[in-house]
Amino acid sequence: MRGVPQFIDQAGARAEDPRTEVLRALSRARASIPPKYFYDRLGSALFTAICELPEYYPTRCEASIFDAHVEEISGVVGRRATLVDLGAGDCAKAARLFDRFDPACYVAVDISVDFVREALACLQRQFPGLPMLGLGCDFTAGFALPDAVPLERRLFFYPGSSIGNFTPAEAVGFLRRLRRQCGPQAGLLLGVDLAKAKDVLEAAYDDALGVTAAFNRNVLTHVNRVAGTDFDFAHWDHVAFLNEAQSRIEMHLQAGRAIEVSWAGGGRSFAAGERIHTENSYKYRPAQVESMLREAGFRLERSWTDAAGWFGVFFATLDER
Ligand code: AVJ
Repeated sequence: MRGVPQFIDQAGARAEDPRTEVLRALSRARASIPPKYFYDRLGSALFTAICELPEYYPTRCEASIFDAHVEEISGVVGRRATLVDLGAGDCAKAARLFDRFDPACYVAVDISVDFVREALACLQRQFPGLPMLGLGCDFTAGFALPDAVPLERRLFFYPGSSIGNFTPAEAVGFLRRLRRQCGPQAGLLLGVDLAKAKDVLEAAYDDALGVTAAFNRNVLTHVNRVAGTDFDFAHWDHVAFLNEAQSRIEMHLQAGRAIEVSWAGGGRSFAAGERIHTENSYKYRPAQVESMLREAGFRLERSWTDAAGWFGVFFATLDER
């Protein structure tokens, strides 16, 4: 394949249309917005900026693991796999592995369709000899790779602890669906943020520069576009804290005053101080990751952590029992 990589946009074909999904979540007694709505174009760019923040350790910790152990990691995952990058975004994490992993084919999957399409087109120019395929879809809802993607030797790459957005039960469900997309000699390379001190966690989700606050508040402008709401993000404050009982960071948007939000055919009011829950980001112990993998039909082969033990990279294969 040469030139512009093939791209399949399945974003329109999801189970529930975005407007219905968002308005339903907003209308509940405890309002929420699914975290995938962070990732419009600006949101994806803000997330890239978050990864550069001094307080946001996960990206750097994960990169340090790959830097320190890339030889060993590429040894266990093997060469010439079909690398399926889940939530590829700017495709930068996967691209850094091409050299060692020597994939036979690269598949970038992301809900932020235009963002990933452009990133992939750019990457294809850098690696003209590597067959690439883009897939715009919400893979959290369940997805099927097109027939064009070889079934053998699929290596699913799910870095960055995006799995932390699911509850533990949902994460197992997601891994089970992934398991069903696996053919012979499949593997899963998973990055997971690990449980750690509260102050480190809370600073990572409430940085001094306010980039995470902007990322959180930007979800409202995206929601205005997809659901026709009339949120003014200026009236909403960024709130992030560790929920210790659930071992998760929670992000919310808190109304700075009483607010009426309306949309075609409806609306709701928020009291001053009322919150919209926008994200959970679960933090796991390595043993929990291993048991989630096992529950989903995978077998943990190896895992690596950074020097501080803040982040883990887990490689699993199919449990054929
Ligand atoms: C992309 C879901 C892994 O939970 O750390 C970063 C998103 N939210 N800062 C995370 C996020 C706030 C991120 N994940």
